[in-house]
Amino acid sequence: MYTFEDRKGRSLTLRPEGTAAIVRSYLQNNMAMLAQPVQLYYIEPFFRYNQPQKGRYRQFWQVGVEVIGESDPALDAQIIQLALVILKDLGIDKLFTLQLNSIGTPESRKKYIASLQDYYFGKERHLCENCQVRLGSNPLRLLDCKEEDCVTLAKLAPSFSEYLDPESKEFHADLKEFLDELGIAYVENPKLVRGLDYYSKTVFEFWDNTSDSQNAIGGGGRYDGLVELLGGPSTPAIGFAMGVERLIANMKRAKVRVPHKDELHVFVAQLGKEAKKKCLPLIMQMRERGIKTVGALGKGSMGAQLKIADKFGAPWTIIMGLTEVREGVAIVRNMKLGTQEKVKFPKVMDKIIELIGEENLDTYHPGELLYG
Ligand code: HAM
Repeated sequence: MYTFEDRKGRSLTLRPEGTAAIVRSYLQNNMAMLAQPVQLYYIEPFFRYNQPQKGRYRQFWQVGVEVIGESDPALDAQIIQLALVILKDLGIDKLFTLQLNSIGTPESRKKYIASLQDYYFGKERHLCENCQVRLGSNPLRLLDCKEEDCVTLAKLAPSFSEYLDPESKEFHADLKEFLDELGIAYVENPKLVRGLDYYSKTVFEFWDNTSDSQNAIGGGGRYDGLVELLGGPSTPAIGFAMGVERLIANMKRAKVRVPHKDELHVFVAQLGKEAKKKCLPLIMQMRERGIKTVGALGKGSMGAQLKIADKFGAPWTIIMGLTEVREGVAIVRNMKLGTQEKVKFPKVMDKIIELIGEENLDTYHPGELLYG
């Protein structure tokens, strides 16, 4: 952690992650009184005092999700699905593989840790410096060390599955059934332990499947004991977080085209009061439908209005004049090619949706639940 003294000699620590703080907030704000589970998200900067390298910074951003107050494995499947939906929406889901494991209850973990320490007894000198220290403090981390000798030793180490308690085993089997039902592929990875101490049962990470560096874009798991550890009642919970800089780097790598938030779908040009009367409600209806629309409602000539449409970079323009009003049509113009066609006025919105593609509509409506 990033810990230092301020000018008055007080010890300050910058938060390394969000989960513990969210649980603290859940308790302080009495969220146990709300309908459970409580579903929260954050997009925030965090700080870790590690050696900076490609994709690893001392200050970085995470987008994270925490769901507190539900113990069903169906929720674990849903949470994993949500992470995948985000990766898919960003256009980079194909680059990653879901790594899945169960690290059981604290009791079964204790037994397993004892067996690990037994196994490593006498082999300490073959371990890297870090792992020699971790053997005493957090032996599970020896399993995911990337140093060559440590990897070799970890290969022959006892497997957690032998020590998993029956409840966690059943839970994990149920989770896998739900994932299968959702068509979500995963790699069972008995060596996946995660770097944070609060996990229980389900743990998962998304690994880059095009490199060996095992750089995770995100990860998470269940932490059924954390609420109690921070002074609350026994409360199950699960969550995950993804690194924003890593998301962006991978979107660049996959050459994902990011639409500008102000990018227009359509410009509405009109001549005369009758046309304006038709265009006003159309503009509103199109906006409500998620078509990003700007209308020229002043008195400029058609040429001047089309110039404005060009400046906005609108790919399509709807043109209405008195003739069109009388004929009950609108002209839809492709601004790039300069071609245009007549469309029956009541069908003009459908036509625009067809042209820009339903999936490109702006579907963000404030107040609407994003998930669940
Ligand atoms: P984490 O695996 O430590 O989990 O971090 C999640 C993600 O944050 C990583 O997969 C990575 O993309 C990004 N990340 C971590 N450290 C750095 C860094 N130094 N530089 C750039 N990116 C980084 C957690 O933090 C848990 N709180 C996740 C969680 C939520 N578990 C349950 N709920």
